[in-house]
Amino acid sequence: MHVDLNGKTVLVTGSPGFIGANLVLRLLREMKGGKIISFDSLNDYYDPALKRERLAEITEAARGAEAEHLFVQGNLADKEAVFGLFERERPQVVVNLAAQAGVRYSIDHPDAYIESNILGFYNILEACRHFPVEHLVYASSSSVYGGSRKVPFSTEDRVDSPVSLYAATKKSNELLAYSYAKLYDIPCTGLRFFTVYGPCGRPDMFYFSATKTLAEGGTIRIFNYGNCKRDFTYIDDIVEGILRVMQGAPERRTGEDGLPIAPSRVYNIGGGHPENLLEFVAVLQEELVAAGVLPADYDFEAHRELTGMQPGDVPVTYADSGPLERDFGFTPSIGIREGLRAFARWYKAYYG
Ligand SMILES: NC(=O)c1ccc[n+]([C@@H]2O[C@H](COP(=O)([O-])OP(=O)(O)OC[C@H]3O[C@@H](n4cnc5c(N)ncnc54)[C@H](O)[C@@H]3O)[C@@H](O)[C@H]2O)c1
Repeated sequence: MHVDLNGKTVLVTGSPGFIGANLVLRLLREMKGGKIISFDSLNDYYDPALKRERLAEITEAARGAEAEHLFVQGNLADKEAVFGLFERERPQVVVNLAAQAGVRYSIDHPDAYIESNILGFYNILEACRHFPVEHLVYASSSSVYGGSRKVPFSTEDRVDSPVSLYAATKKSNELLAYSYAKLYDIPCTGLRFFTVYGPCGRPDMFYFSATKTLAEGGTIRIFNYGNCKRDFTYIDDIVEGILRVMQGAPERRTGEDGLPIAPSRVYNIGGGHPENLLEFVAVLQEELVAAGVLPADYDFEAHRELTGMQPGDVPVTYADSGPLERDFGFTPSIGIREGLRAFARWYKAYYG
């Protein structure tokens, strides 16, 4: 099935979160008519000023766009609010990005994960059941691969051993979505994102918090002596991937038993080109100097401390992005030099 977005009503939860806001900005550029709804609680997990900044950018972009934009502030865990929204707006395509993100935060704030990621996602599924949609796309995470050492990470791998509550909620989302796809024939696609970064990103993530530490003259700690490899995915690549996937809902088909064959799929979105952490930090520092965040005579060696592996750390993680390439003709390709340059320039402009 092909879903053409023009003239449609598209709901993006978790906008103006980082990924959501960038997706909405792209939709405002691409869609010829229709309506885009951003739904977000604007919680204070990180500085809400960044969310207001992104929302202001969306509002500005909406002025010149052919599609209409509506922002609704609300909580996914509030079933009445979610049902009211679906009843009023009848979205045809839903992209659920709202969630409590972050692995470390789940140690002290487990309630937030159950509320947003389990109850909130359940409300979205129920709303999609009662107000039928053409496609539900939802954020999963590379963290579902847990401590797996088999690389690249493939969606064919067994992922039954989450090592954080966050990962457990994301894997649960995939299971819940499968059951709703099977029971109610709702086309669902889950996307496992691999470390997304870019301008106006999330301050709780390494590249952002490291930049803040370095800008304040501090020293950053690099584990396993920098010999970790990660798939870092630039935000524009993530948005391109979501946009393509949104338009390619799994087909509704009936099995021999007369029941739906669950129209449910899961993809990785990562470049499949892992970067060495030490190299990533070196490029980040160079770009921060070039953007004027760090002084020209900045002493790189003096501001990084190389230490051993942390318990639970996995040395190499990256995506098998073959299925995304096969089904949507797309693999993320923006490199860390270009991506970190855009981040460093934004950081300089925003924080001065
Ligand atoms: N950024 C990454 O590297 C990454 C990696 C893997 C998965 N993901 C997933 O992608 C999605 C988007 O991530 P992001 O980086 O943009 O995070 P983000 O924190 O910037 O955006 C999430 C948004 O959801 C909102 N939200 C949280 N709980 C809510 C609730 N109960 N009701 C309404 N709104 C709520 C927050 O206010 C926030 O604006 C999340 O589901 C996240 O788990 C992100």
